[in-house]
Amino acid sequence: MRKKTIGDVEVNGKRVFVRVDFNVPFDEAGQITDDTRIRSALPTIQKLIEGGARVIVASHLGRPKGKPVDELRLKPVADRLAELLGSTVISADDCVGPKAEEAVAALRDGDVLLLENLRFHAEEEKNDPSFAEQLASLADIFVNDAFGTAHRAHASTEGITHHLPSVAGLLMEKELQSLGELLTAPSRPFACVFGGAKVSDKVGMILNMLQRVDVVLVGGGLAATFLKARGLEVGESLVEDDMLEEARTIMAESERSSVPVILPLDVLVAREVKRGARMRVVQATSVPAGWGIADIGPRTIEHFFGKLESCKTIMWNGPMGVYEVPQFSLGTRCLINYVAATDAKSVIGGGSSVDAVQEMGLADIVTHVSTGGGATLELLEKGTLPGVEALNDS
Ligand code: 3PG
Repeated sequence: MRKKTIGDVEVNGKRVFVRVDFNVPFDEAGQITDDTRIRSALPTIQKLIEGGARVIVASHLGRPKGKPVDELRLKPVADRLAELLGSTVISADDCVGPKAEEAVAALRDGDVLLLENLRFHAEEEKNDPSFAEQLASLADIFVNDAFGTAHRAHASTEGITHHLPSVAGLLMEKELQSLGELLTAPSRPFACVFGGAKVSDKVGMILNMLQRVDVVLVGGGLAATFLKARGLEVGESLVEDDMLEEARTIMAESERSSVPVILPLDVLVAREVKRGARMRVVQATSVPAGWGIADIGPRTIEHFFGKLESCKTIMWNGPMGVYEVPQFSLGTRCLINYVAATDAKSVIGGGSSVDAVQEMGLADIVTHVSTGGGATLELLEKGTLPGVEALNDS
C-alpha cells in the first residue's frame, strides 16, 4: 500500500481539499465530548498552512440522510478546530455551489476553510460523479486524511480522486503504517485481544488475523457467543444466535492453524446489566440460569496476562465487559493497564476500546490508538480500503 503523501506534492499557493473525519460525538447540550478526531487531523492541516496552501477542509457528521439537519452542522467543529489551531477557521454554509465557491475564492495562502457537512447532499454517499466533480472543482490537490471514513467509497473519498492529484495526509499515513505492520511484519509473538458486543462485526477480521497471530484472546459479549457455540449454557448473556455457526468456523480455523483462541475461564455474572445489580464470579462452564455475563473474571485476567507476557505485539479491540458500568469494567481496565505497561508494540483498534483508553488517560502510552471504527475492522479484515486504493501510487 505505497501511496503518495503530502510530502510528495507542492502545495504553496494551491487550493488543497482535505477530507477529514470530524464525525465526533456530541452531548445533549451540543458540546463535543471527544475531539480526538479533530486533534488527530491537526498535523496535516498545520503542515498545509505552513506550506502556504489554501486549506479547504471537508467532513461528514452523523447520518443526515442527504438533507440539511441543524444539529449536524459543522459550526461547533469549526470553532473547536480554530481553538486547537490557535487561528481563524472560516465556515461555509455549503460544501458545493455558489456558497462554497465564494468562500474558496476569498481564501488567501495559509487560510483554513471548513465546508458544511458533506452528507447534507445525498450524492455524497452515492458517490455521484457530477457531485464529485463539483467538489473537485474547488481545489487543485486532494488530500485524504479521513482514515475513519476510508472504508466508504463516497464522492469525497473516492469519486474526487478521478479529478485531482490525490495523496494521503499524515494521519492516514500513520494509521496505514501502524495497522499495516500488524498485517505484514508484526514482531512476534503477536496476540490479538478481541472483545465488544458483537461477533457479527468482527468475524472477517478475526478470521484474517488468525492467519497472522500466535494467540487470540476473547472476552466481552463475543465470549458468550463463543461459549454457547461450544455447547455451554450462558444463562441470560447477550448472544448472537445467528452467529453461532461463524463462531464454530473461527474455532475450527483455530484448530486447523494451531493458533489458540482462548475463552474466559471464569466470568462475572449479574442479574441485570445495570449499576448496583447483584453479581458474582462463576466458572465460564457454569453460568447459572437467570444470570448474564457482564465481565471476565479474576482467573481469566491472570490467565490472559500470562498469555500476553512474552508478546512483542498486542492488538486490542473491544472491551472485556460492560465497561460503561463501573462494576463491570475491571476486566477491561486491567487488560488496558497491562497492555499499556508492557514493552510490546500495542495497537488499540478503534471504537469503544478507544473511549476506554482515553478515559484511563493511557492513550499517549500505548503505541497507536486508531481513529477508525468500521475502517479499522475492515482494514484488518481485507488489508485495504477503497478510500486508500483510490489515492495515487508512490
Ligand atoms: C465512523 O464514525 O465510523 C466514520 O465516521 C464513518 O461513519 P459512517 O459509519 O456513518 O459512514
